[in-house]
Parts: sequence; C-alpha cells; structure tokens
Amino acid sequence: MRALLLLAALVAVAAGTETFVGHQVLRIIPGNDKELQKVQELQDLEELQLDFWLAPRGLGYPVDVRVPFPSLQPLKAHLEANGISYSIMIEDVQALVDHEQMEMFRSSRSQLPLSTSTFDYSSYHSLDEIYAFMDLLVAENPNLVSKLEIGHTTENRPIYVLKFSKGGTNRPAIWIDTGIHSREWVTQASGVWFAKKIVQDHENDSELASILDKMDIFLEIVTNPDGFAFTQTKNRMWRKTRSKQSGSVCVGVDPNRNWDAGFGGSGASKNPCSDTYHGPYANSEPEVKAIVDFVTNHGNIKAFISIHSYSQLLLYPYGYTTTPVPDQEELHEISEKAVAALSSLYGTKYKYGSIITTIYQASGGTIDWTYNQGIKYSFTFELRDTGRYGFLLPASQIVPTAQETWLALKVIMVHTRDHPY
Ligand SMILES: *[C@@H]1O[C@H](CO)[C@@H](O)[C@H](O)[C@H]1NC(C)=O
Ligand SMILES: [Zn+2]
Repeated sequence: MRALLLLAALVAVAAGTETFVGHQVLRIIPGNDKELQKVQELQDLEELQLDFWLAPRGLGYPVDVRVPFPSLQPLKAHLEANGISYSIMIEDVQALVDHEQMEMFRSSRSQLPLSTSTFDYSSYHSLDEIYAFMDLLVAENPNLVSKLEIGHTTENRPIYVLKFSKGGTNRPAIWIDTGIHSREWVTQASGVWFAKKIVQDHENDSELASILDKMDIFLEIVTNPDGFAFTQTKNRMWRKTRSKQSGSVCVGVDPNRNWDAGFGGSGASKNPCSDTYHGPYANSEPEVKAIVDFVTNHGNIKAFISIHSYSQLLLYPYGYTTTPVPDQEELHEISEKAVAALSSLYGTKYKYGSIITTIYQASGGTIDWTYNQGIKYSFTFELRDTGRYGFLLPASQIVPTAQETWLALKVIMVHTRDHPY
C-alpha cells in the first residue's frame, strides 16, 4: 500500500501532474455580515491561490476552500485574527487523490471495456474508456441508441451525444448533460450509468417505455472533454474549458458562465484567471456553442437538465436575475416531487429552489439560456455530497448517487411527457 502510494506520487511528479500534498479543504461559515465580507474578499487575493469549492453564498452558508500548503498558516492566522471560525473538511487532499488514482488503476487494468455488461459502473473511468463504452452501447443496441457528433473542443476532441430513440422524426425531446465542469467526476460517472439504465429498462419499466414512446432522450456524458482529460492527466481540480485567452497566461473559461443569458453580469468574473471567468463573449467556448447550435437546430427540446456536483440541490432558473420565472410555481412543484423521489431510496437530503434564491447570483448559466429559449422544464442538479469529500467523492458512491438521481430524473421526464406544450 505504502509502496504503491509512493509509486503513484512519483509517477505524478514525473508526468508534470499538479499535486496537492498538504493542501486542506477548510469550511468557513460566515456568521455575520462583516465575516461574510472578509470571506468574500479572500476571493480576490490571488497570491493565496485559493480554490473555492463552494463560493460564499450568504450568512450561515458554508464556504469550502482548498488551501495550498504554503497558504495554510497565513490563511488560518488571518481567519483567527478576524474571529472567523473554520473547520477542516479534508486534512490532506493528495491522500484522497492518491486513493482515487489507485482504485482507478486497479479497476482499469489498462484495457478498454469489451461489453457494457461487464463494464465497471462503480469506478471512475478515463475519457477513452467512456468513449469506448458509448461505442459498445451503440453497437449492442443499434435500434435504440445512436451517437451524434455535435462539435469539436478547443483541443479538437469530438463532442458526442447519445440519442435514445424508438423512431419518429424530430420527436419532442429531453436533454441531459453531465460533466460540463470537468472535476465533478461523479456526474460523468452517473451519466454512464444513466445510459446503461435507459437501455436496460426501456421495455420493462413502463414509465420509461411510455416516455420513449413519445419522446427522444439526448445524453451528453462528457460535456467538457478537454477539461476532463486535463483532470486525469494534469490537474484533478480543473473546472473550466481549455481555451487560450489572449493577453493572459491563464487558460480556460467557466462553461457555466458562458451562455447568452445575462452574460457578463454579476456572479461571473471578467478575470481570465478566475474559475468563474465568463469568457471573451457569449458562446465563445466550442463546447457551449455546440449545444446552443444543437438545441436551436433541433427546435423541439422540452426538458433540459444539466448535472453538476456537489451540494445536493435541485435548481431551476433564474440565476442571473431575481425576477421569478413565469413558471416558478410549476417548476417548484416538480422539484419538490423529484427531490422526494430521490430521497426515497437512501434518504439523501436535497434542497431546491431557483438558482439565485438557493445559491447565489450566477450570470451566463446554462439553464437560464435554455429557459429563455422556451424550454420550460429547465433544471440543474448538484449531486452528492455536501462537502465531506466534495469533488473527490469515493467511487463506492457512484452507483447509489446515480440510482437516486435517476428517480428524480424520471419525475421530470414523466411530468414533461404528461404536459406537452
Ligand atoms: C428490466 O430488466 C433488466 C434486465 O433483466 C433489469 O436489470 C432491470 O432492473 C429491469 N427493470 C425494471 C424496472 O424492472
Ligand atoms: Zn459545476
């Protein structure tokens, strides 16, 4: 075990991989306005190299921040000097990363999957393995599943969407995407599980069967392929795309701030080095533009569900404005039902509401744009957990997370089926 960890660390260093030795994730819960302001100011202190896993939301809400080793003492001293209390959520980030690496290494045995029935759904997989999985699923189920290429990334990787369809032309459709933020690994892993689940249940689950009698399902599992590849080779904590920014040494745009809905407003950064950088203009990212073009050309998407982690939330528009959406009441009721279905399996607790009232103002977000395009049933999930592991959710939680989320997805899909518009 020790030898293996050491080996993993050596390999990582040799490959120029970012390591997180001695990094901690601290949880700060601002108790009053002054503390909240102090915590917000930390976001602008670039020299500390802080990585906000949960950005400040408001009084009483946790702020989770990954702190590089050299910044730990100065930050802790600064918090203590200001009377702001904190706790340590993750003692040593690298220990969790090493553990995850070792499990992935054990499960892959460096060969691509040969069938979707022997595929290991309870492990994290590389981009190549997920792309191979998609091809197998299509080959095994040619009458139900097809693979569409909707564009190319900045680094010229193909962007794929799986289409589940029993026929017809341009049927009303449901869209689901996972992994637009590349480090949110439980989401891509859940996307893989959803794909298999749809195939397995499309005949004997009467609800799903009736959904597919009327509608198609589109599923984009790796929505940010460049970022995902980067999390696996260079930096596990990468969130953004990998586009070059003119006039800056920093790379990448937050693909959930790049949509043409309140673009560039509050709740997005104009600093290319920020993790919430909105990009030079709306749809600048090919990964975003590919979906925008697809949705526009299709013209008949009725539900759009974009899946993130972590926090255990189900959210509906808006994020960029406090003006409630005209369908607020209906979306709120669907959320309540979906969350109840989700919790029924393992008791996982979710909160729900509009983005701006439940988390914070965020402009240029995916589902604000889709809602404004007339896709009434637009939702975002934040999957497990609430911060114990954050983005480093153990692989043993992939299947339970996917299973419970699927129940919520079905509530949204059934509602969409029964409320044509
Ligand atoms: C449908 O059948 C498959 C394969 O036998 C099984 O794995 C799945 O759980 C079944 N689904 C339902 C909803 O009964
Ligand atoms: Zn996210």
